[in-house]
Amino acid sequence: MNQLLVAYASKYGATAEIAERIGQVLRQAGLSVEVLPAERVGGLQAYKAVVLGSAVYIGQWRKQAAAFLKANERALAERPVWLFSSGPTGEGDPVALTQGWRFPTGLQPVADRIRPRDIAVFAGSANVEKMNFLEKFMLKNVKAPAGDFRDWDAITAWATTIADALKEAGSA
Ligand SMILES: Cc1cc2nc3c(=O)[nH]c(=O)nc-3n(C[C@H](O)[C@H](O)[C@H](O)COP(=O)(O)O)c2cc1C
Repeated sequence: MNQLLVAYASKYGATAEIAERIGQVLRQAGLSVEVLPAERVGGLQAYKAVVLGSAVYIGQWRKQAAAFLKANERALAERPVWLFSSGPTGEGDPVALTQGWRFPTGLQPVADRIRPRDIAVFAGSANVEKMNFLEKFMLKNVKAPAGDFRDWDAITAWATTIADALKEAGSA
């Protein structure tokens, strides 16, 4: 049970790349890490800690991440857990961009029981070339700009706090 799991749900790849970056930072800190799409995780027995992230569509996590959170609630509550969302597009504070959105309301009770160490919101990337007509229309409707707004420094800094917390726990 020495591994860390970074699980994610991504529709167009932006969140997958964030998860990979988090995995990279944790590996560079000397930790053993697996980065997997949430639906490919068999169980949590092999993992001592879990980072779980999802892309946000209309205020919701992708169903694979939501299902993972619910199905593994008990195991997650017994481990250190960090959650993140990849969503807001535009310059500036990602939470301010979405009028204070921090986590899907419907999943909040599950998160409360899991008691994650942190819940982060990272700016995302909306690639219009990959979107279907309806998605382009919806993005325009919520006045969210298209483009890649991922803040790699913020992501790296967050992953570093996870590495530090786990190394501290390991040496205690
Ligand atoms: C139709 C549509 C709806 C979206 N709704 C939200 C939203 O409610 N909140 C948010 O923060 N981002 C929203 N986004 C932005 C995406 O979550 C963001 O681009 C994300 O990084 C995409 O991740 P993925 O490439 O892993 O799927 C939306 C994007 C699209 C195309």
